[in-house]
Amino acid sequence: MTCTLLTGGFGYIGSHTAAILAENKQKFIILDNFINCKRDVVARLETITNQNIRFYEVDVRETESLIKIINENKVSSVIHFAALKSVSDSLMRPLDYYEVNVKGTISLLQAMKCTGLKRFLFSSTAAVYGEPDFCPIDEKHKLNPLNPYAQTKIIIEKILEDISKADREWSIACLRYFNPIGAHNSGLIGDDPLSVENSNLMPEMIKVVTGSKNYLNVFGDDYETSDGTGVRDYIHIMDLSKAHVTALDYINKNNGINFFNIGTGEGVSVLELIKTFEKVSGLSIPIKISNRREGDCAVCFANPKKANDILKWKSNYDLYKMCNSAWEFVKSNKI
Ligand SMILES: NC(=O)c1ccc[n+]([C@@H]2O[C@H](COP(=O)([O-])OP(=O)(O)OC[C@H]3O[C@@H](n4cnc5c(N)ncnc54)[C@H](O)[C@@H]3O)[C@@H](O)[C@H]2O)c1
Repeated sequence: MTCTLLTGGFGYIGSHTAAILAENKQKFIILDNFINCKRDVVARLETITNQNIRFYEVDVRETESLIKIINENKVSSVIHFAALKSVSDSLMRPLDYYEVNVKGTISLLQAMKCTGLKRFLFSSTAAVYGEPDFCPIDEKHKLNPLNPYAQTKIIIEKILEDISKADREWSIACLRYFNPIGAHNSGLIGDDPLSVENSNLMPEMIKVVTGSKNYLNVFGDDYETSDGTGVRDYIHIMDLSKAHVTALDYINKNNGINFFNIGTGEGVSVLELIKTFEKVSGLSIPIKISNRREGDCAVCFANPKKANDILKWKSNYDLYKMCNSAWEFVKSNKI
């Protein structure tokens, strides 16, 4: 039986992907240093998957440990989620982002090289496109990083391209995620990061709803969009996670490197998202309009056709269901 290593597998996207792999009876192990996830995610994931999760508390930069883990478990493919992910944080401490994201990935790729492992799924981001020239954005759109976080992802994509050119047996997919929100239908796992420095809108909105913040900061209402706030492509976490299963299947059958946009193709403004969440929860969310934030673009939504056609993957959840599942997660966990 094949075994997939999930680095950062107890984080937001990794844990939901693990849940789907388990549902599909696919074997996986997890490696995480717990820098941005709560320890009780392990037990929660074990409840959801009804199995003991084999995991290692290891930093992805520890190459020797990675080699041992890969050999011990006869790992056949890797999904690399582990990274630092906040745009605003990356502007303040860029070196840490290069250290964890770039050096961490090189360490992992070295371990894969040493063990002859050549199947790799990489968590990339729509942030690689920067301020888009056109929307919906397809994968041929030029890359234009507006912050160190996006820059680290582009550097890694380039490294992967070079590896693929040098050795045609590698099979790599870079999934450029748009904006995942929502939670698992069990209500046991969701977007619940440890870091206080989180720039994602939904966890910030949840902090307001649960009283740990007084208002939600909306960065900029003077963009050239219908209501002046930024437009993003929000995608349900389960739809996003499912893309990994189809991409895994694809790289198991095809060599080379491919880049896929993983989004719904729909642009939604920040205010629209807030209003939908208010409707779902019956609560009113106080907001404060602040200046535009450095490193943010005005409008960004995907053309997901390549993933639709090649991976045979498509998003299903609409905005209401996305907000509803995030709300259910809040209610069931009283976070
Ligand atoms: N959530 C988003 O909006 C989003 C959007 C685009 C891309 N991504 C990318 O997807 C991936 C997963 O994102 P997420 O939202 O699940 O983030 P997350 O922070 O919830 O999960 C990342 C996990 O990696 C672990 N980790 C971090 N550094 C590590 C290290 N050095 N060694 C081992 N483990 C480490 C953390 O403890 C955490 O559990 C990241 O690479 C991120 O850049 C996320």
